[in-house]
Order: sequence, then structure tokens, then C-alpha cells
Amino acid sequence: MKELLNQIKSDATSALCSIDNMEQLENFRVKYLGKKGEITAVLKGLGSVSAEERPVIGQLANEIRFELENAITQKRDELKQTEMLKKLENEKIDVTMPSKKSEMGNKHPLTIVQNRLEEIFMGMGFSIADGPEVELDYYNFEALNIPKHHPARDTQDTFYISDDVVLRTQTSSVQARVMENTKPPIRVIAPGRVFRSDAVDATHSPVFHQMEGLVVDKGITMGDLKGTLEIALKKLYGDDIKLRLRPHHFPFTEPSAEVDISCFVCGGKGCSVCKKEGFIEILGAGMVHPKVLKNCGIDPEIYSGFAFGIGLERVVMRSYNIGDMRHLYENDLRFLKQF
Ligand code: DAH
Repeated sequence: MKELLNQIKSDATSALCSIDNMEQLENFRVKYLGKKGEITAVLKGLGSVSAEERPVIGQLANEIRFELENAITQKRDELKQTEMLKKLENEKIDVTMPSKKSEMGNKHPLTIVQNRLEEIFMGMGFSIADGPEVELDYYNFEALNIPKHHPARDTQDTFYISDDVVLRTQTSSVQARVMENTKPPIRVIAPGRVFRSDAVDATHSPVFHQMEGLVVDKGITMGDLKGTLEIALKKLYGDDIKLRLRPHHFPFTEPSAEVDISCFVCGGKGCSVCKKEGFIEILGAGMVHPKVLKNCGIDPEIYSGFAFGIGLERVVMRSYNIGDMRHLYENDLRFLKQF
């Protein structure tokens, strides 16, 4: 019996050394100390051992059981420790590794120019107004003194949604909405998309951008219009430019003008940017027509105002000397990355 126990002990001791995971350890425990384990069997069989031997064997068996239990606990702790280290090793983050490259985009030239103009006009006390792109014929035309069948409609080939609803052809529609809702003094700009049924070419697109300006107050004159535009355009193009107002006709302003600036590249001598003309047409403007004020609930006997409309594509193309409008919409990164 004693030899058997010693044999079990030495087998168990050497088996324990080669254990390297929890499952093996559990099998080991069952094999020696489980209900049907080898040590348990010896203890159960003590009845058949002679009376003098019984306490000696019993004591030895218990000692071995105790030793094995201790060894198992110790091994379990060791295994837990190595498992934890392995896990930490696997989850280690190398903070010195180069990160995934994230590409930084840049603003579209139209956005750059729009933002710049917004900054300039906000600096002069204007706020930004907004209106719908899908607009009532009334705000796009009627309120602006362009009744049905007016020849001015022919120059703005319109996308009709229904008889009364259009895709706005001009940001001037926002003028009417603002005047209807706001008591003067009014000082707003309204940048946004406009739509006309034009075929695509180097200078036309069915979707393009404008920025409207509107000022209404007591005693506003053409001088205020010219002064305001001069300050704004000088901020945009530099103090050296000169302004030129040419008489023109718009149904919603009277008098009306087209506003040119002297070429900011050649200073007026003539170059490729101004197409040898020395001046560049920048916007349409004028004094808000009394009929328009009246349509929008403002008394033209008390108030007067000026308005202007800038074609943003034109400003962008002239500013960066871009020859073809299509570049602005084709999303070619080789083009867009230059700004
Ligand atoms: N809406 C005009 C256009 O699209 C531009 C314009 C001209 C706007 C004169 C104005 C203005 O506010 O006073 O051609």
C-alpha cells in the first residue's frame, strides 16, 4: 500500500510539471482527488488494511492528498498569471506605430468666395437670409414686378414644377419674402442655388449660384448702393479697383444698373482675365421698384431701398482665372486640390 501511495505521489508530481492549461489541471484533479480518483480509492480501501497499518497508510494518504491539493492551488494561480500576461501581450497597442493617413479636404472655390462675401457683408452689418429653392412663381416673379407673359421671363428659362411653382431662377425671390416678413430697416444678403433651363457649356449651367443683397430703410439712395458695393468689392479685390455703373433694366429695380469693376489683374489695360475690356461685369443692382415695395407691404412713400444680385460663378471664374465653368461641377480632384 505504502509503495502504491508513493508511486501515485511520484507519478502525480511529474504529471503536474507538464500541465500548462486549466483543462489539464482539472483532469489532473479528477484523476487523483476526484470521487473516483486514485487517492480517494486508497482512502476508501482502508477497511481492508490491517489494523496496525491503517493509521500509517491513512495518514500518508491524507498527507499526499493535502500536498496535491496545495500543488493544484499553486498551479492554478500560476496558470492564471500566465494567461493574464498572454492577454496583456496580445492587447498591447504600439503607440509609436504610424496611424492611418486621413486625407484632409479643402473648400470648393465657390464656397471660398461665398464665405468671403458673407464675411465682408456681415462685417458691414448685413445678416444672412434664406429662402426655398422650390419657390412659388409669386415670389420668383410676380412680387418682383414680373407678371406672367412679361418679356423678362424669356431671359430666365424656367423649370416649372406646376403653374404656380418653379425652381427659383434668381435669389431675388428671397427679397420679396424678407420684405413681407420684416419691418425696415432691412439689411440682408441671400446666397444660394438657382436654376435655369440652360444647356451646359463653358459659361452656362442649369444650376448655379447667386448672392442677393437688399437694404431698405428711410432715405436710402443710389449713393448708398454705390458706396456699399464699392467698399465690399474693394475688400474682395483690393483698394485699387474702380467701380463703373452702366444703366440697365431690371423689372424690380428703378433705376437699374450693371456694375463693373476695373480689371483686378491688369488694372484696366486689357488682359485675358477681362477679355481685353479693362472692366469686368460683376453684378446687377438698382433701387427697389416702388411697386415691389408695395407688393411686399412696405410704403414706398416712407421707405426706399437698394438691391443687388451677384453671380457667384462669374466672380469665382474671374478671381481664379478659370476658363470653363464645368470645372466647378465635375469634381475632378486635380482641379479641386488647387484651392
Ligand atoms: N436677379 C437678377 C438676375 O438674376 C440679378 C439682379 C439684378 C438682382 C438687379 C438684383 C438687382 O437684386 O437689383 O439676373
